Amino acid sequence: MTAKLIDGKAIAQEVRDGVAAVVAKRAAAGKSKPTLATVLVGDRVDSATYVKSKGKACEELGMGSVSHYLPADISQAELEKLIKSLNDDKTVNGILVQLPLPSHLNEERVLQLISIEKDVDGFSPINIGRLAQKGREPLFVPCTPNGCIYLLDKMGIQIEGANAVVLGRSNIVGMPASLLLVSRNATVTICHSRTKNLPDVVRQADILIAAIGKTEMVRGDWIKTGAAVIDVGMNSKPDATKKSGYRLVGDVNFEEVKEVAGFITPVPGGVGPMTIAMLMKNTLRAAEIQDK
Ligand code: GUN
Repeated sequence: MTAKLIDGKAIAQEVRDGVAAVVAKRAAAGKSKPTLATVLVGDRVDSATYVKSKGKACEELGMGSVSHYLPADISQAELEKLIKSLNDDKTVNGILVQLPLPSHLNEERVLQLISIEKDVDGFSPINIGRLAQKGREPLFVPCTPNGCIYLLDKMGIQIEGANAVVLGRSNIVGMPASLLLVSRNATVTICHSRTKNLPDVVRQADILIAAIGKTEMVRGDWIKTGAAVIDVGMNSKPDATKKSGYRLVGDVNFEEVKEVAGFITPVPGGVGPMTIAMLMKNTLRAAEIQDK
């Protein structure tokens, strides 16, 4: 193995410790407990797991959490009514609507309804719009892309002037990650299902962010020697040696890529823990903004 392993679990723990220390100071000063409201519509197993981890993290850091579980067939009007009530609720600092929503619901309308000061996911059109424009500051940056950038900074990887390739253009990861890299003066190429000669494009990358949702798609011979590889993928792969019958793997073929890259995130234990750590940071920030 030539690549340095990027220990997302340990780095996320440092971030969480920092948040917990500020939360404890706030409590000692008689300030409110930063509180996150999560909204889960329907019974997707993966979404339920993520939402549960977010609530658990709040508890572990001394923060508050309120979970709203809504049936899959809830109406748009009812969901919007809940969002409005959370916007008005002074005990709630951050609102997170777990995505994806069932297809009958209008995600765009739901996200734009969330008060910008409580938009800890950074998905409201105002926050994303500010991220996309020069000289504008979003109040909150989406958690997974922010976690990827945090890992690069922590490892001392230079972003300015680097050739960065982002695989995937989703609203949750690929697009905001690309915007963040541009704002840090990287030269960014966004790849997707219609990209031609993908391996050749990826070979130009000093920094690769893989968020395409395809099991171990990125091969060792796609990687420039010494590149930093951030794997956002979370795919389950059949594995008869596991009790569950599967194991979690990324969008990158770890065994091959670790022999060529300079830095690599493992799956699990890379980007995943960073998403929650950044969410905790954003929720604390929301409470601080709302104190004023
Ligand atoms: N679904 C997958 N990732 C995320 C995330 O970061 N936030 C929300 N709200 N939904 C998601």
